[in-house]
Amino acid sequence: MGRKAKRGLIIENLEILEATAEGKCMGKHEDKVVFVNGGVPGDIADVSVVRDRRRFYEAVPVKFHQLSDKRQEPICEHFGVCGGCKWQNMQYKYQLFYKQKQVTDNLVRLGKIELPEIKPIIPSENTSFYRNKLEYTFSNKRWLTDEEVKTDEAFERNALGFHIPGRFDKVLNINKCHLQSDISNQILVGIREFALKNKLSFFDLREQHGLLRNIIIRSSVRGDLMVIVFFHSDNMDEINLVMNYLKKTFKEITSLQYGINQKKNDTPEGVDIVVFNGEDHILEEMEGLLFKVGPKSFYQTNSNQAYTLYQITREFAELSGKELVYDLYTGTGTIANFVAKNAKQVIGVEYVPEAIEDAKVNSQRNKVDNTRFYSGDMKDVLNEAFITENGTPDVIITDPPRAGMHQNVVDMILRIAAPTVVYVSCNPATQARDLQLLDVKYKVTKVQPVDMFPHTQHVENVVQLKLK
Ligand SMILES: C[S@@+](CC[C@H](N)C(=O)[O-])C[C@H]1O[C@@H](n2cnc3c(N)ncnc32)[C@H](O)[C@@H]1O
Repeated sequence: MGRKAKRGLIIENLEILEATAEGKCMGKHEDKVVFVNGGVPGDIADVSVVRDRRRFYEAVPVKFHQLSDKRQEPICEHFGVCGGCKWQNMQYKYQLFYKQKQVTDNLVRLGKIELPEIKPIIPSENTSFYRNKLEYTFSNKRWLTDEEVKTDEAFERNALGFHIPGRFDKVLNINKCHLQSDISNQILVGIREFALKNKLSFFDLREQHGLLRNIIIRSSVRGDLMVIVFFHSDNMDEINLVMNYLKKTFKEITSLQYGINQKKNDTPEGVDIVVFNGEDHILEEMEGLLFKVGPKSFYQTNSNQAYTLYQITREFAELSGKELVYDLYTGTGTIANFVAKNAKQVIGVEYVPEAIEDAKVNSQRNKVDNTRFYSGDMKDVLNEAFITENGTPDVIITDPPRAGMHQNVVDMILRIAAPTVVYVSCNPATQARDLQLLDVKYKVTKVQPVDMFPHTQHVENVVQLKLK
């Protein structure tokens, strides 16, 4: 049978065996792996093949014969369509089990390196409302349910919510998201109703027109609240109307800002952000340290669990107060400032210039005088001249984005050969790849997975490496 012919094939009584890193589940049929969207390990289901590749099928369940005892009732009305919290139908203890397994499988199979015992994953204290940042998209192409598509009725097509997975132009209208605190949901619902009532236009991504484009809501453990609205049109009367509505309605907002983004993509890079009311930043707090977080700065999205992550990072760095530390991919200098009191000097490097400005302010604000920060692309900044200027580090802490480290950065770490490296990662697959490259000189001595993102398949992992 040709591959095309297998689309629509029903595989009967498929046993779901695993939960995978992509948030899907996995079973086996004849000689092929079957990835299933929407199952839980332990389910037995008939599944319909939607994609046929040489080594695997992608399928959706059409009939369940047995529901796994690992299941739980999802808390969110949008579960299954939204794609944000793919594991919400699995009990938290099993989510943790599969995250731990993800780390182990990646380090063992991809890393192929000698490993110490991998410590049990640290759970997140909060499994709901744990995020401090969400971004919603305005769209005039609301995602319609199958029932809506089948009827002739006219529907409201404007939406404010999350992109449908795999559909860049379709947005699911969100009524309530269980990831961020209640005020975030009130703002979401409030601004959408206000826009609809006042007939303000929602962005048309294909045609690139409309007023309202995105909204970012950021909160901090201190109760600070930042709202940034991105417009496409520069109609100042309408922009002022929206911004004044937010200012008057939500007194909780401590930093109200907007930007006009007429680029093809949604990223805030290159967009001027204007303060409409309040501060130009919010403050996060950790161990008495205050961190300035600007509209474009990275800050770990689960603030409480970030504290746990940084404590482990500091512990793995084994600082005595005498060390020169490099903090690579420093963001707003949170790790750098957090470990500074235990080191002689900390040098932070980060791509986003605004984040580096915040990092410097964070040191000043906290009276930390042994940090220095540089902005630029890591693969270019971390070179011989940089080491001559700043000194050879005793400890390197590295916390790269999901893609992991550039080969030049790995090569430079090998060339520096600091006695201790602490590698914090949000992607165990790229971390395993990098650890394998570092294996020529480094031995992995400690591994600690941390759950920062309950109900999702994502896992954070901290690794300590020692020079062989
Ligand atoms: C996972 S975050 C870590 C931030 C910080 N360590 C923290 O815990 O808040 C990764 C950071 O790397 C930065 N980044 C991404 N690519 C980079 C590059 N090529 N060069 C330098 N920094 C980069 C991002 O802007 C982001 O701030």
